[in-house]
Amino acid sequence: MSDYSVKSVQTKAYQDQRPGTSGLRKRVPVFKQEHYTENFVQSILSAIPGGPKDTTLVVGGDGRYYSPEVINIIVQIAAGNGVKKLVIGRDGIFSTPAVSHEIRARKATGGILLTASHNPGGPNADFGIKYNMDNGGPAPEAVTEAIFESSKSIKEYKLVELPQVDLSKLGESKLGPIEIEVIDAVKPYTAYLKEIFDFELIKSYVHSDDVSVLFDGMHGVTGPYARSIFVEELGLPESAVQNCVPSPDFNGGHPDPNLTYAHELVDAVEKGKITFGAASDGDGDRNMIYGAGAFVTPSDSVAIIADWADCIPYFKKGGVKGLARSMPTSTALDRVAKAKGVEYFEVPTGWKFFGNLMDAGRLSICGEESFGTGSDHVREKDGLWAVVAWLNILAAAEKKGIKGINGVLQDHYKKYGRTFFSRYDYEEVESDKAQEVMKELESAYGSSSFVGSTLSATSSSASFKVTECGNFTYTDPIDKSVSKNQGLYTTFEDGSRFVVRLSGTGSQGATIRLYVEKYSKDASEYDRDTQEGLKPLIEVALATSKLVEHTGRKEPTVIT
Ligand code: G6P
Ligand code: ZN
Repeated sequence: MSDYSVKSVQTKAYQDQRPGTSGLRKRVPVFKQEHYTENFVQSILSAIPGGPKDTTLVVGGDGRYYSPEVINIIVQIAAGNGVKKLVIGRDGIFSTPAVSHEIRARKATGGILLTASHNPGGPNADFGIKYNMDNGGPAPEAVTEAIFESSKSIKEYKLVELPQVDLSKLGESKLGPIEIEVIDAVKPYTAYLKEIFDFELIKSYVHSDDVSVLFDGMHGVTGPYARSIFVEELGLPESAVQNCVPSPDFNGGHPDPNLTYAHELVDAVEKGKITFGAASDGDGDRNMIYGAGAFVTPSDSVAIIADWADCIPYFKKGGVKGLARSMPTSTALDRVAKAKGVEYFEVPTGWKFFGNLMDAGRLSICGEESFGTGSDHVREKDGLWAVVAWLNILAAAEKKGIKGINGVLQDHYKKYGRTFFSRYDYEEVESDKAQEVMKELESAYGSSSFVGSTLSATSSSASFKVTECGNFTYTDPIDKSVSKNQGLYTTFEDGSRFVVRLSGTGSQGATIRLYVEKYSKDASEYDRDTQEGLKPLIEVALATSKLVEHTGRKEPTVIT
């Protein structure tokens, strides 16, 4: 007879388990410290509003290194805390948006996601644990703070010693006191996308003679999903998907879909003159849209999806209730909202800030500059949703004589003007040096003469008059909660601006992000190179923040 009694394990608390923008992210050796992962899992369960007893939780992630071990820990601690049922993706594989959908579809209590998103995986790389609520979205700050508080003073955790679950076998079973259901995490998600989009229209589009498609899964979780959508449903050949077998260390790569890290996609698209290329990140919530010679910035992407929403059955039926973007994301979306007469919101960086607006029925489509685009169909950003949305739009555009990604972009600029946007990342900067940069700007903002002053570029005669500056504070329109210190912004008379903030998703040192944006209604500028067009503004931002002086970094680590 097995002994399924609940055991209390004495532990020592760690002081560094505050969840960041998107859950707790640390290097694997940190999670492997004695009691470290157990403490955090117990703290999550203790912080579930209403408590963990009799709950149903969805569990899974991007399949990165250390996931099977952590799933095992979750099973035992969940059993120790009286959780009724765990719904786990086969082999622990579950994309972030698919978890969100599953929580909503089966009205689960919440979900535990094992992912560090787009960060590399492996024995010395990143791991992450995140809790999502019953609406399918990331836990709000009140809950993540409760998790953190609990983790700082935890003295014991509860578990039931159980044999390892066979994650490769589909089906329901009872393991001691807890029910386990291992599910196919792909099928329900594909079925949902088929309800949202016009698959018939897309199918005929992708099979036209002059259209070619390539999706890159970057060795992350989206591989099986992409095969199901592009190969099985849309009938494209196997060669339409690449890097689509999930690997625990993403094949040694950095599964972040941007022009730097998704170079395999970019190269293949350029070489094969592929008309539609796309990639998604490790856990499947980010996306990049890239056709031969045509890159869509995430800020433009959300604006264009919003503008074309009518051709997508989900929005045709339900309407577009409102639009939103994160603060550093370009204002291209605002212009679409104004033209359509729908309300729009500017929220802090972090997908969790969109959830309340969606739940209140005031937000349908939203996006972030960090390659995140999505809608209220789930409560996470959704990489494959964005990719299929673009295919739906391209198919509809083709019927109006607008051809390919470039055609859609040019049509958009003609209608709304073009917003040039770029982000400079300075990764793994020493924390105190990053703070100095922030202080430098704050002290500039503190001077009464800063607003109204004119800042000049060094390499050209361009100059910019400051009209506004500040540290972004957000008051949630629904629950009135206030989030302070969300980024320093300087806005200029011509509508240009730059924003500086520290990333909340890194696992080592600080990452400074500098975001620059410039708007133009001059058609002769639409084809201009982004970096060239933004150069004077970048110079002004670097001079005002004294970033190079404080950090010693002459160049950013990544430009997106
Ligand atoms: C994750 C979050 C996004 C956020 C991005 C960058 O992907 O889900 O909402 O925009 O990270 O966040 P960071 O704090 O690193 O700039
Ligand atoms: Zn991600």
